[in-house]
Amino acid sequence: MYPLHITNNEYFFGDVKLLDIAKSFGTPTYVYDLDIVGEQYDSIKKSFDWPKLRICYAMKANSNIDILKFLKSKGSSIDAVSYGDILVALKAGFTPEDIIYTTNNASDEEIELVVKSNVLINIGDLSRLEKFGQKHPESKVCLRINTEVESGENDLVKTAGKESQFGILLEDVDAAKNIIEKYHLNIIGIHEHTGSGLYDTDDMFESINRTLNVAKKFENLEFVDFGGGFKVPYKPDEHTIDYNKFGKKLIEIFDKFCKDYGKTLELLFEPGKYMVAQSGILLVEVNTIRKTPHKNYAGVNSGFSQLIRPLLYGAYHHIVNCNNPNGIKTKYDIAGNICEGGDLFAKERMIEEIREGDILIIQNAGAYCYSMASVYNNRPLPGEIIIIKNKVKISTERLSFEKYVHKYFD
Ligand code: LLP
Repeated sequence: MYPLHITNNEYFFGDVKLLDIAKSFGTPTYVYDLDIVGEQYDSIKKSFDWPKLRICYAMKANSNIDILKFLKSKGSSIDAVSYGDILVALKAGFTPEDIIYTTNNASDEEIELVVKSNVLINIGDLSRLEKFGQKHPESKVCLRINTEVESGENDLVKTAGKESQFGILLEDVDAAKNIIEKYHLNIIGIHEHTGSGLYDTDDMFESINRTLNVAKKFENLEFVDFGGGFKVPYKPDEHTIDYNKFGKKLIEIFDKFCKDYGKTLELLFEPGKYMVAQSGILLVEVNTIRKTPHKNYAGVNSGFSQLIRPLLYGAYHHIVNCNNPNGIKTKYDIAGNICEGGDLFAKERMIEEIREGDILIIQNAGAYCYSMASVYNNRPLPGEIIIIKNKVKISTERLSFEKYVHKYFD
């Protein structure tokens, strides 16, 4: 689950010694191992044995250009959610046909930019459908359905349900059809995305069946897109999903649907977290040990501005001491360098004894970590290192403080 290993008392990621990276490139530094991204991509391909399978990587999880280029070389497509995403994906070598753009309250200007770039739009609300139809009658469109199944690893990452802001509700499908007919829109895809970190396969199949029930009402479909949400275990004892078993059942259902529909449709998924979470770590350095009668704090040179998931979602990220793999486990709060009481990467966590100067490894940091980072407290973003076939390369230079403050003074 955590693809790190210890050899001769040293932590390695693939064949690369992590302390060497910390020494050469400094900290805080994100490190991604592309071989792991490749394994995840291949495992989805293997789980869903369908002649027309398309994996659209949800680049919101991590839009590092080297990861994108690598996934392009593997045959991946892209799930984009902004015009900026489209520009970055094109820069990485994807073609407009490789990309599906899902609108999230996008402005009219943004929609026009997407249309000009010849990328297919996935529309999930009646208002946008109407405006799009008026402006671009007879266009090809994908329709995002809200299957009203609420699921996801926490409330903030659920994207369906009657009260959600995403997707056409089942009760509004007829209204959507009226708009579609009025403007002769050509619905070539039906899409759903329930949430992130989906752990209940009954929910998932309920949502899949409801999507297919809607899909059969449209005659010109080329694909059905079941979104992302593949689960990644974050805690050492967290249960995983057997995607081979899940895939077999899904293919049986989809095969029957396609036979009834009279056409072998493309089957699309949009995994983000599953593709990259485990491929990444964040290396941070401990600069302050604070022992009080109540707490042991280890203060580090990064904070929630650079990895916000623990604060925002209460997410667990496994942390180990790179300098002391076999140290005696002691209880710590791992605090960041942001001036807020909530800036903790871990609370009351048993970690090998920590000394000032030690490097900690924050794991499963490949998805929604760098991509959600900010420069809050005027702390420049960390660098990004790529490991590919056990070779190390700088992907993004750490933004030096001098470079960062220039934006105010140049
Ligand atoms: N497709 C759509 C339409 C989405 O909204 C999302 C994620 C995905 C695909 C990819 O979902 P994934 O496979 O990564 O679960 N920042 C949160 C996750 C937010 C997901 C938002 N939508 C986190 O760190 O847990």
